[in-house]
Amino acid sequence: MNFTLSSKPLANTKADCLVVAVPQKGDWPASSQDADSALGGLLGRLFKAGDLSGKIGSTLLLPVTDQPWDRVLVVGTGADKDRSASQYRKALTSAVGQLKTGPAKHVLMALTDTPITGNERDSSEAARLSLIGRTLEDQLYAFDHYKSEKAPARKLSKVTVAASATVKLLKDAFNLGLATGRGMNFTRDLGNTPPNICHPTWLAGQAEQLARDYDVIKTEILDEKQMKKLGMNTLLAVSAGSSQPARLIIMEYRGGKAKDKPHVLVGKGITFDTGGISLKPGEAMDEMKYDMGGSAAVFGAMKVLAETKPEINVVAVVAAAENMPDGAATRPGDIVTSMSGQTVEILNTDAEGRLVLSDALTYVKRFDPATVVDLATLTGACIIALGNHATGLFSNDDALADQLLAAGERAGDRAWRLPLWDEYQSQLDSNFADMQNIGGRPAGSITAACFLSRFTRDYRWAHLDIAGTAWHSGKAKGSSGRPVPLLVDYLMSHVED
Ligand code: BES
Ligand code: MN
Ligand code: ZN
Repeated sequence: MNFTLSSKPLANTKADCLVVAVPQKGDWPASSQDADSALGGLLGRLFKAGDLSGKIGSTLLLPVTDQPWDRVLVVGTGADKDRSASQYRKALTSAVGQLKTGPAKHVLMALTDTPITGNERDSSEAARLSLIGRTLEDQLYAFDHYKSEKAPARKLSKVTVAASATVKLLKDAFNLGLATGRGMNFTRDLGNTPPNICHPTWLAGQAEQLARDYDVIKTEILDEKQMKKLGMNTLLAVSAGSSQPARLIIMEYRGGKAKDKPHVLVGKGITFDTGGISLKPGEAMDEMKYDMGGSAAVFGAMKVLAETKPEINVVAVVAAAENMPDGAATRPGDIVTSMSGQTVEILNTDAEGRLVLSDALTYVKRFDPATVVDLATLTGACIIALGNHATGLFSNDDALADQLLAAGERAGDRAWRLPLWDEYQSQLDSNFADMQNIGGRPAGSITAACFLSRFTRDYRWAHLDIAGTAWHSGKAKGSSGRPVPLLVDYLMSHVED
């Protein structure tokens, strides 16, 4: 697939298909007016007649003659005043959806001059190009690795995106968007890979491959023996019942100055969650292959950094384990001593994410982090609270929480903050140890975050519960690539710090 920017007039660019926008209400962008006059006013007539509604995401494909383009795809872009970044992305998504199965090989896309709402930065041409880049990569994703019959080869092979100029600022923005889309697709590949293939050692292999592919990524893998030596007993309690050994995967990207403290990402990497001895019910248990979604997003973000090389230091740590119930498995009632020295009574072996994260969160202190953000498909309760639209956000630092909320808003990959008040902490009181690993049914996502907060007192920390956002269930079952866009926006906003 070839993606390029061009500022040549549309009339001078040959293509199999030209894509233009028609708003439902508002001024037609210059590109649409140009196309309309080249077509002798055809688009205007169709709009008047009602064939073109301009409704957000609606499409009409017109074969045309005597033009440098064989077809024109008209995309409805809604009303100028309601066109937020996410509405704009809706129009882009449906345009790319049409193109991916269509006959056009070379597409000329003139959607960049459609305005969007928001402040100067969020509505800029650069912001729009970034959204276009990301949507192109994201919408052309397919995962048919395990199908004997592959989907028929796609005709589409080149997209030229029209821009006002091909200056560095705009090229960088477009490339960041494309890289973000590819990062999401890497995340999705990892998430979609079946759990008989994607186990902790395989995930570690993915990190090693990333380090081979990109000089700027360094990796280190700890095995169970090394983790034992560090006292990571809560993490090891999770892998105890599996024949697949756990791994702690460390990836470093150092694009900033040596003295700049790193931003640390920590991912939950449960490659399959049966619940362990506290076995889960069978229904939809296959979806627990996505329980490494937090770590998949960390991998995706690292790939974006490796491709775009911003001046920032980022360390990623993935706690990879498989939660299985064999004879060596952890029992409900077992008490283990975490790397932090705090003891944990494991009352439910299905609350395993917090166990692997607690040791990983203790481990990352050694990096003297500027901030630590962990990502985890941590609680079913988060899906009950926020559904599949927003990631749950928890933090011990208001400024950090606000930055993550803003990043999610800008990227169209939203999070919503929930409280971490002291009142909830007592739900974790244990009769026998410093704490227990479950807090009962009320506020299940909050008590899970409270558990993590006991291991993150020494630094600025936020936790993202992505149980509802990391994958789609039902017919469109598959990894979503979230919250890579949020993470990338958040990390990039620290480049000038
Ligand atoms: N991986 C699950 C959380 C989850 C459930 C994510 C459904 C996505 C969909 C996690 O390990 C888990 O099992 N959590 C338990 C915690 C409970 C035992 C306190 C849960 O949510 O039921
Ligand atoms: Mn579980
Ligand atoms: Zn889990």
